[in-house]
Amino acid sequence: MSETAQIKLSEKTYDLPVITGTENEKAVDIAKLRDLSGYITLDTGYKNTGATQSAITFLDGELGILRYRGYSIEQLAEKSSFMEVAYLLIYGELPTEKQSADFQNEISRHTLVHEDMKKFFDGFPSHSHPMGQLGSLVCSLSAFYPESLESNQTETEINLTIIKMLAKMSTIVSWIYKKSLGNPIVYPQNKYDYVSNFLHMTFGQRTEEYNVDPVLVDVMNKLLILHADHEQNCSTSTVRIVGSSDCNLYASISAGISALWGPLHGGANQAVIEMLEQIKNDGGDTAKWIAKAKDKNDPFRLMGFGHRVYKNFDPRAKIIKKACDDILEKLGVNDPVLEIAKQLEEVALKDEYFVQRKLYPNVDFYSGIIYRALGFPTDMFTVLFALGRLPGWIAQWKEMKANKEPIGRPRQVYVGATEREYVEKQSR
Ligand code: CMC
Repeated sequence: MSETAQIKLSEKTYDLPVITGTENEKAVDIAKLRDLSGYITLDTGYKNTGATQSAITFLDGELGILRYRGYSIEQLAEKSSFMEVAYLLIYGELPTEKQSADFQNEISRHTLVHEDMKKFFDGFPSHSHPMGQLGSLVCSLSAFYPESLESNQTETEINLTIIKMLAKMSTIVSWIYKKSLGNPIVYPQNKYDYVSNFLHMTFGQRTEEYNVDPVLVDVMNKLLILHADHEQNCSTSTVRIVGSSDCNLYASISAGISALWGPLHGGANQAVIEMLEQIKNDGGDTAKWIAKAKDKNDPFRLMGFGHRVYKNFDPRAKIIKKACDDILEKLGVNDPVLEIAKQLEEVALKDEYFVQRKLYPNVDFYSGIIYRALGFPTDMFTVLFALGRLPGWIAQWKEMKANKEPIGRPRQVYVGATEREYVEKQSR
């Protein structure tokens, strides 16, 4: 027998259906509550509100579990590649060898971006933030590929837009990096796989052959896999909600990029390094900064700590911490901020304030140190997060469309002035 929930409001009891997920997650379906009773539910920040039923990513914040389409993040990070994970997220299954090769080939055929898009780079001030550039450039893809604006596209047409989005993103990201250096852009080459091509366009030069370093390819694959999806977070919910108005994929992804930019979300990786630098330059007294983070009169927060859903540990942080140690050792990099990061973590993990609030290092705590070791400037970090998150955004947008989800439109409890008469200016 199907489970129901009872809710008692103004002496009347209402039966509401209970939805059970495949991992036995339970939700009370309140969609009809207003029609039945006149009440809505209120949950600022959607802390306890499910916005959809999704088959893409499973996350248990209490147990520190993260799985894409049923596969654990630990196994995927160890054994898979970013392209394979992208395929898994978007199409639902791990690809066969042939599917994998076809997917990579299709992407390789679309990595060039329209030459006219280069003119945008001339217009951006030389030090404009890479995330601002990325959001604008991705949105402008809709101008170059207007067929994506048609709302009743066939599955094949939608798929082509998806392939173009994936393919052009790595080219755009690497060109943003080149622009930040004032260096000439490097064109994609079809002989490379996705990640190698990205590294070639980013760190290669026009005039010489780029030597793809397998160590870099491996760590980039890992980082991108770890960021590839994270169910209904701020940017992903944004992509779904923008897409629910029947908005095209490029504009929906661009909206997700804006949501990711904030330091409470993807921008935290930049904020972490800036914070570690600040602590180092201030003499490296970690206890002083921990005290600042605990002080409610001080706006300072320990960046890279805490998470809305992980209340035990962030499984991505565990993997990334190890990857960080490995890559620094392999590259022979000795980064003084790593020491500060480790000290902060040690102190915070024992501190009553952080323990009580279940605040642990999140994925962004160590990712910045890796990006830095690879040679990326700090303000590029969130762009790299976006590159990784792209398959997840696409998969979620595609699922939202396939489910024919209605336009996203929350309600509110109005707390403003009640009706009043307009008063002429001279009498106010
Ligand atoms: N430093 C100090 N105190 C903190 C921190 C922190 N980093 N994070 C949360 N708290 C405190 C907060 O002040 C509050 O205390 P109290 O109950 O006394 O008022 C309590 O912990 C709960 O915090 P909250 O802000 O209500 O929690 P939230 O779920 O709304 O916010 C968060 C989650 C990630 C925005 C927050 O922990 C934070 O600002 N962390 C730092 C930024 C960061 O690292 N963001 C990256 C998240 S992981 C990447 C991603 O997926 O986006």
